[in-house]
Amino acid sequence: MSDTSGNAYPSFSSRLAFILTTAGAAVGLGNVWGFPYVAGKNGGGGFLLLYLVALALVAAPAFMAELLLGRMGKASPPTALRRLQAQAGSRVPWAPVAWMGLVATILILSFYDVIAGQALFYGWTALTGGFAGWDAGAVTALDTGFKASPAMAAFWSALFTAATIGIVSFDIRSGLERAGKIMMPALFLMLIGLMVFALVEGDAAAAFAFLFGFHDMRLDTGVVLEAVGQAFFTLSVGVGGIMTYGSYMGADVRLPRATLWIVAMDLAVALMAGLVIFPLVFAHNLDAAAGPGLIFITLPLIFTNIPAGAFVAFVFFLLLTFAAITSSISLMAPTVARLQEAGWSRARAAATMGLIAFLCGFATIWSFSDWQDFYPLAFLGLDGMTAFDLIREGVSNFVLPLSGIAYALMIGWWLKRDDVRKALPAPDGALFAIWYRVLGFLVPLAIGILFLTALVG
Ligand code: PFF
Repeated sequence: MSDTSGNAYPSFSSRLAFILTTAGAAVGLGNVWGFPYVAGKNGGGGFLLLYLVALALVAAPAFMAELLLGRMGKASPPTALRRLQAQAGSRVPWAPVAWMGLVATILILSFYDVIAGQALFYGWTALTGGFAGWDAGAVTALDTGFKASPAMAAFWSALFTAATIGIVSFDIRSGLERAGKIMMPALFLMLIGLMVFALVEGDAAAAFAFLFGFHDMRLDTGVVLEAVGQAFFTLSVGVGGIMTYGSYMGADVRLPRATLWIVAMDLAVALMAGLVIFPLVFAHNLDAAAGPGLIFITLPLIFTNIPAGAFVAFVFFLLLTFAAITSSISLMAPTVARLQEAGWSRARAAATMGLIAFLCGFATIWSFSDWQDFYPLAFLGLDGMTAFDLIREGVSNFVLPLSGIAYALMIGWWLKRDDVRKALPAPDGALFAIWYRVLGFLVPLAIGILFLTALVG
């Protein structure tokens, strides 16, 4: 199979490279910024349990399905799905699912760049001696100052986007793969160091009780939807980034085992991020349910009065930036792969998509300032949701699970069972049968019912 320049279809150089790079795509702001705040807001332990169930039963099986579609289709998502549709002899068009995913990659990238830009800015602030010894007013002012100034948010977001473009412009092995191989191990080291520090320095017992114990929680469709949305978002299922990485996997990768590793790493990072943040939050009597401000206000408040605060802050925000960049490159990879098929160079494609995402990012940037009280879909009853809220929640709670259903049906119903099994590859045993049934029945039913309940409720 060849690309437009006549070269062999690109691939990662080894199994480990595939696992690290794809884990990098999964591990991102969703783990370090999102998980602790969503879990904190929804009461800790009970939410974690829901999230684990959603991860194991729905998101992880769909994640493996997306990787497999990439492996079987060996092209950008729209082209891969078109090929597989032909192979399955299906009359329903498959490519629109991929196109919807590509639109979603740019929407996610648009707000991802802004949040990651803030992380970059905070890392810079720490590096230049910030945080240590600051009073609470100065910390809050850093966050409000950033958000109130579109120019500043745009500047840091542009910097982050430029880094993403730079990496994606290289070819697969010297770009995506190298970033994963360098940044993922570094991320784990930093995270382990910070976790040990937080557990020793902070209130470890309270953090464990909060994250792993049961507390009063509101259990309704909204919370379940949020758990499912978080599970999909954290594994990056449903937009085609994972499909694109799947297309680059070498022939020697055993997909079931690789999936297990990647999901385990993703979960480990979310839990470790919780064990960095919550011991410190409880030791300083701060609010675990602070919401999105947990990382950009609550945590920096703590950095002001712990030993080596500026250094700890720098490591934390560097880690957050690494997590974000290994994901943002996977958000850009599918559209770039598609444009390459149309004869574009990677650099031109990356720069174009980066620019589009950056410009769309103003919807998020303004949601923090001028559009703070502007609720674009208020007339649909979505009052109180800014453009940023709509993009973020719309994509993770709607587009991602919807593509999840589509992938599940493609594998579970339309492609031939034996082709699927051989492509994994997996022996024809109980484990394969379970996964296959989960995709064919459980995933579409569970998500379908959830959507219906949400619509009715
Ligand atoms: N999984 C990433 C996170 O948890 O931050 C977000 C993400 C990256 C979603 C890449 C989708 C994607 F294609």
